Amino acid sequence: MSTVKMNVEGKTIEFPSITGSESKKALDISNLRAETGYVTLDYGLKNTAVTKSSITFLNGEEGILRYRGYPIEQLAEKASFLEVAYLLIYGELPTLDELDKFTSGVTNHTLIHENMKKFFEGYPQHAHPMGVLASMTCALSSFYPESLDPNQEEKAIDQTILRLIAKTATIAAWSYKNSVGHPVMYPQNRLDYSANLLYMMFAKPTEPYEINNKVVSALNKLLILHADHEQNCSTYTTRVVGSSQASLYAAVSAGIMALWGPLHGGANQAVVEMLQKIYDDGGASKENINKWIARFKDKESGQRLMGFGHRVYKNFDPRATIIKKAADEVLDDLNVDDPLLDIAKELEFAALNDSYFIDKKLYPNVDYYSGLLYRAMGIPTDMFTVMFALGRLPGWIANWKEMVEDKQPITRPRQIYIGENKRDYMPIEGR
Ligand code: SDX
Repeated sequence: MSTVKMNVEGKTIEFPSITGSESKKALDISNLRAETGYVTLDYGLKNTAVTKSSITFLNGEEGILRYRGYPIEQLAEKASFLEVAYLLIYGELPTLDELDKFTSGVTNHTLIHENMKKFFEGYPQHAHPMGVLASMTCALSSFYPESLDPNQEEKAIDQTILRLIAKTATIAAWSYKNSVGHPVMYPQNRLDYSANLLYMMFAKPTEPYEINNKVVSALNKLLILHADHEQNCSTYTTRVVGSSQASLYAAVSAGIMALWGPLHGGANQAVVEMLQKIYDDGGASKENINKWIARFKDKESGQRLMGFGHRVYKNFDPRATIIKKAADEVLDDLNVDDPLLDIAKELEFAALNDSYFIDKKLYPNVDYYSGLLYRAMGIPTDMFTVMFALGRLPGWIANWKEMVEDKQPITRPRQIYIGENKRDYMPIEGR
């Protein structure tokens, strides 16, 4: 085991260094405070590994993303979403029999308790579906009280996992139906995951619903591309909440809420809203594009080029490359001519040739084109982040499961106190 020496106030301390399977190195500082009295300060945990993990590897400099060692490009092209969910959660690609069992397990758990339908009636029509999804996901635990114990035997955990994957899709679709005042559509066991989700969202009891296989295939690809991404904000949130031995439903519900933020999963909605503003303000003209680029570079404007930049990727986000290609194909297949896509491409070209973005290594991330693809598929803007959540669910589950199986301690970081030193109570007359 190699070590790193540190000289702290004249005392040399050695800390073990750890090398991961892709040669990434970490300093194990578990004894730092005991040995030196020091703690580390690292806003946003930009330089801190919070766990070892075998689930996902990404290399931000080279734009590499692999789930359990499989390149994202191959999985997006060749696998189904449930196949990738199984891979992330259980560590290996499923055999045909394993996939059949997993798929039928999900299919047979898509119904939610009829009482939950009444919950939807309580929400105002304008309720954001992410808020509905987060609260209804946590509410699922009320119907499965045995799931509150994260240390159940494996079979019971597997059952909870199937229920979560199956029922969140139904909850998502029904939250959309609630937002447009339409009757809910019950899941159809004859349909696969992606087709069923589209059916529950867009079918109406008044007429037959035709499944568009190109849209189904695009949705399958999008769900796979969003399925996991190492210790991003929402995934680590799931770990933190799960570390207190709160249930998987509670941990995932917290992950959904973290994903909602516009700096994280909410960016796909923010991108399309940004593009719409640019469209309304003059469209893709060179002058208008340059005006907006200048605004995104000006800190005073408080506006960022949403869908650009990433904490880890300092090169192209491989998912953005795949989604951009899929967006072109699907819009072409569906004969959709979306002026916002032209604006997105003009903006991307301008930013990639602008020193501000080049110097700060800001490239398109997963959210830059995904919203345009969802839009082409008929998915409304405030459902974009819900689609992201459904895709990321297997990643959250896999990380929670890894944390529980590793018997990791409750997350409880330290702080550096910079407040008042000791002072005595002052009676109100003296204040
Ligand atoms: C996701 O972590 C993950 O893996 C996330 C994700 C996943 O799959 O889970 O990949 C999904 O969340 C993608 C990111 C979606 N968010 C956005 O697109 C929002 C816009 N992007 C940013 O706000 C920003 O780039 C972050 C939040 C994504 C990353 O922020 P960091 O790493 O904390 O970097 P930062 O905010 O400190 O920015 C560094 C510099 C700053 O300028 P300086 O203070 O150094 O002068 O770059 C600037 C920022 O102002 N900057 C941008 C910018 N992003 C960063 N300037 C303009 N437009 C932008 N988009």
